[in-house]
Amino acid sequence: MPDTLLPDTAMSITRILPGQPAAIAEAAGLLAQGHLVAFPTETVYGLGADATNAHALAALYAAKGRPRFNPLIVHVPDTEAARKLARFDARAERLAAAFWPGPLTLVLPRAPGCAVAPLASAGLDTLALRVPRHPIAQALLRTLDRPLAAPSANPSGRLSPTEAAHVSAGLDGKIALILDGGPCTVGLESTVVGLAGPQPLLLRPGGIAPDAIAALIGPLGLPPDEAAQAALLSPGRLAAHYAPSLQVRLGATSVDPNEALLAFGPNVPAGAAVTLNLSPTGDLLEAAANLFAHLHALDRPGLRAIVVMAIPDEGLGLAINDRLRRAAKPRAP
Ligand code: TXA
Ligand code: MG
Repeated sequence: MPDTLLPDTAMSITRILPGQPAAIAEAAGLLAQGHLVAFPTETVYGLGADATNAHALAALYAAKGRPRFNPLIVHVPDTEAARKLARFDARAERLAAAFWPGPLTLVLPRAPGCAVAPLASAGLDTLALRVPRHPIAQALLRTLDRPLAAPSANPSGRLSPTEAAHVSAGLDGKIALILDGGPCTVGLESTVVGLAGPQPLLLRPGGIAPDAIAALIGPLGLPPDEAAQAALLSPGRLAAHYAPSLQVRLGATSVDPNEALLAFGPNVPAGAAVTLNLSPTGDLLEAAANLFAHLHALDRPGLRAIVVMAIPDEGLGLAINDRLRRAAKPRAP
């Protein structure tokens, strides 16, 4: 992969610092500039990126080497901060009061004007939110004062890290800094509960027992097969959640006047009703950062289709093309 795809690869050695106040302040500064920092939570180590910065999120997906854009958990210091990002109903309030800070993640409808970049939730209109209770995670979130997207700090497909050494074994040289907080006490990821619909769903078992949750909000449904696949393995399968309403045509080399053009690179065909370029310089990191926002912006009533120029199937291009292919799947009219 070229270095331009992954700015943090320029650093060949990743520093590990004990999670003391000066290191936490430095970590917050790096995150605010768009760098990636691993930090301890009570469940597992997270790989943090500023959730309002689409470029930082694209770099995060690249560092994890994910072939797809899985939606990420967004971490905030308290329930008040969470309420600014998503819509809380009575069930969400009750669970937050009982289990936050702690190993529970709530999937909720995004609030209007939510500052989190669409890429953090892979274009879904929901958001996964968690308030970790680890003191280093808490201090980092309060210093940063922005929502922090953080999947487990391991390369895609590998075990979740519960010690700083696990993180450096998988991601050394790809991230700016690791804050060391010793071993994680829970050692298992958070329980993910879906509250976007009428029936609460157990989307991922984890650090809090489903019974304890059911005692407060009633029985948890399991996602139906298709949804389970989508939520647990590859949320992108839920095509309807992020597919534009216009038809999508891939690999375009020309465009009609009643079509929107999602361009890539410097050589853009003329004649579209409207054109947005994922990256005029052909930078896949920039393209990933722009993908969902551009698709939303081009999805205008009255046009016939969104046509998309070819994007190289390498690095982050794999995840971009995965999403675009799903968006282009034929749908019922
Ligand atoms: O304990 C944890 O949760 C750790 C620490 C770092 O907080 N984080 C973590 O993140 O495990 P990650 O990215 O490895 O797992 C995210 C989980 C996945 O199962 C994903 O499908 C689900 O959360 N998820 C995230 N956003 C979602 C959404 N909008 N709808 C449904 N599921 C979502
Ligand atoms: Mg994980």
